[in-house]
Amino acid sequence: MTLAEHPTHRDTAAAPAVSSPAVDPAHRLRRLRRTPALRALVRETRPHPRQLVAGLFVQPGHGRRDPIGSLPGVSRLSPDEAVAEGRRLADLGVGGLILFGLPAAKDAIGTGASAPDGIIQEALLRLVDAGLEERLVLIADTCLCEYTDHGHCGPLLADGRVDNDAAIARLAETAVSQAAAGAAVVAPSAMMDGQVAAIRAALDTAGHLETAILAYAAKTASAFYGPFREAADSAPAFGDRRGYQMDPANGREAMREMAIDVAEGADMLLVKPALPSLDILAAARARFDVPLGAYQVSGEYAAIAAAAGFGWLDARRAFTETATSIVRAGADFVITYAAADLAAWLREEAG
Ligand code: PBG
Repeated sequence: MTLAEHPTHRDTAAAPAVSSPAVDPAHRLRRLRRTPALRALVRETRPHPRQLVAGLFVQPGHGRRDPIGSLPGVSRLSPDEAVAEGRRLADLGVGGLILFGLPAAKDAIGTGASAPDGIIQEALLRLVDAGLEERLVLIADTCLCEYTDHGHCGPLLADGRVDNDAAIARLAETAVSQAAAGAAVVAPSAMMDGQVAAIRAALDTAGHLETAILAYAAKTASAFYGPFREAADSAPAFGDRRGYQMDPANGREAMREMAIDVAEGADMLLVKPALPSLDILAAARARFDVPLGAYQVSGEYAAIAAAAGFGWLDARRAFTETATSIVRAGADFVITYAAADLAAWLREEAG
């Protein structure tokens, strides 16, 4: 083929398109959207599998993998299956996992949360035994609601409200037992005042100087935790969590919560839920220099998974888009139940 015959040359040589006077030639932004290669070259945000943290629900037993109805694709796992899942996540290049426990028994103070042979502790010991702490950041959710018979995030006062100061003492014991079992990071999620300071002091006293704290700092009383409460069997038996979790209407208060948690010794901050809090995430990115995570919670996952199940949207595109948006807003990492699928999709896209 001669140069004159080459299609590109012919196209330009033939009818040159006349620019419309209505379009400013300096601002044809569609030029860089024309081909997949151009779009890939100028893409600003590319979540990496290493920025993903998978949520895992652990239950007693052996060889058990019970699907969770409200979280399609997610199962409650016995500790041995949690190890198998950990291997799969590490092979996919996922950054870490966060563990939630379903204890064999519950009581008023959530004894199971801090038991040396508790369900999270057992799972952590096994994950460490399998060498997975080298390949994944092992995070323990530090809360009591899965372990109390009333489903609230701490022991109760006579009037039914959560006793803040009794709760932080229990959370501190829980964090120490999780660190002893091998958690690299403990993640207090109870929204009790002073929980980060109490946990830092207890960890240090117990010699766990290197265990990091990821503070669920800006956590609102959100409707989007519904499926989690079914998955973790942690719905409050009465009332709700508005007496301790934040009002979703309050952005300035979220900044105060985060500043206090940093002052108390939080190594990292978490914003939760993710999509309803993107403004808070962006404001936190501008204000704090600690690593920032965002939690795409159970309801955010379930809404996408359910709509995809009806054929109303494409799960791959919706999960990729939301993870990208969360990173774009300022998250260094994203906790999501879609971590395994996302890691595989992101790898494919990277080519
Ligand atoms: C424990 C905890 C909850 C979630 C994370 N840690 C439940 C709650 O606060 O009610 C919710 C996570 C999700 O919905 O995926 N307090």
